[in-house]
Amino acid sequence: MTQRFAAVSPALLADLTASVGADNLSTTGADLALHAQDAGFHPAHAAEVVVWARSAEQVARVLRLASQAGVPVTPWGVGTGLEGNAIPLYGGILLSLERMDAIVAVHADDFQVTVQPGICHKDLNEKLARYGLFFPPDPGANATIGGMLANNAAGIRTVKYGASKDNVLRMQVALPDGRLIYTGSRSVKQSAGYNLTQLFVGSEGTLGIITEATLKLVPVPQFMSAMIAGFATVEAAIETVVAVRGSGVDVAALEFLDETNTRALNAAGTDIAPYPTLLLEIHAAHAGTLEQDIAIVRDLCQQAGALSFRATADTAERKVLWNARHHAYETLVRNHPGQKIFIMDVSVPISAYPDLIAFSRQVLAEHGISGYMKGHAGDGNIHVELPFGDPDTYARVQAVNSAIVLKAIALGGTCTGEHGVGIGKAAYMAAEHGAALAVMQQIKALLDPQGILNPGKIFPQA
Ligand code: LAC
Ligand code: ZN
Repeated sequence: MTQRFAAVSPALLADLTASVGADNLSTTGADLALHAQDAGFHPAHAAEVVVWARSAEQVARVLRLASQAGVPVTPWGVGTGLEGNAIPLYGGILLSLERMDAIVAVHADDFQVTVQPGICHKDLNEKLARYGLFFPPDPGANATIGGMLANNAAGIRTVKYGASKDNVLRMQVALPDGRLIYTGSRSVKQSAGYNLTQLFVGSEGTLGIITEATLKLVPVPQFMSAMIAGFATVEAAIETVVAVRGSGVDVAALEFLDETNTRALNAAGTDIAPYPTLLLEIHAAHAGTLEQDIAIVRDLCQQAGALSFRATADTAERKVLWNARHHAYETLVRNHPGQKIFIMDVSVPISAYPDLIAFSRQVLAEHGISGYMKGHAGDGNIHVELPFGDPDTYARVQAVNSAIVLKAIALGGTCTGEHGVGIGKAAYMAAEHGAALAVMQQIKALLDPQGILNPGKIFPQA
């Protein structure tokens, strides 16, 4: 810990209470504990006060007060992050956006919706169903839209629809000095000046706090099919990933599971044979297109020697499958009582995916660590999940993690495809970005000169 901040004083508490009301502020141990840890393995750290903002103006006011007092502010959605992104490492104010969960406007004719940051994506999509539209990014957990944008969350549908960054047009952002600005435009095309929207997306609350966002929507597909293919070897499964992408079939999900992960899914209701497996989904506007695409994928799986291939258009079966996939990480956590799961997230260009998988398996074997592997293979993203419960295993898990992260960067990829930098990936930012990291630090210093916004994240600590 290198930075020093002021503590939350009684005077600041009084100003905060006057700004948001006594019902939207708490210093109780229970509330601090509820906002001290995310869904990942990083140790808890509590803030001094939790503040629930109800409006953009309140967010701006809290930031202005915090700046004046020199107190850190860590924004919070619903705590589903995995890399410690929202853990208030330096105490101070935990600013929850959870109560700002309204839909501001549905622009159905423009395929857009404007929302407050605290709405969760599954709840949003339920409300959008009556318009026949949905917001496609889906990280699995029911994260808030603000959290998804702040971390550029992605998930299983990215291969077709893109990550959070690709599905946002305009944002309102509160800056540390209390300004509220709009970035971007509701026009899908915009060529006017710097792309501030994309500067704040993925900035993990270190530059400003997103207080409103206009999202791109797409029509709910008329025809959908899920496919499961089992392979004798990991290599055969991974070669098929590259072949499917090369075929031009626009798959809506292309997921890889190693054989150990099939058991985790089966615990949540599926019946997948214990082999390296691909899970796929296709969305189509026409039944004929769907059938043609399935036939192409089936042929590619068979050419790669698939042991089994099954396609289903049955809605209930599809839901069980994706529900099990979405909860695979939580299932692993439950299956390892007394241990934590180190979840690693790296991503590479698709042609390097087979190399990354082979390297990861080799590193695990060399360190005598058993891990689970699954990934959003269609976009080159892999998670290696490593249970640990004692310091020795943790040290070996860290060594495995470090080797795979550096390999991903060397292969032209990134230290994080979707979980963000948070605490765990800060040490790799220099290796990935080189001289560009100093430019990021200059931008940070310009917008947040006192460094009060989510300190301890993104940048390596001296
Ligand atoms: C997943 C989350 C952990 O892919 O990113 O399950
Ligand atoms: Zn993932």
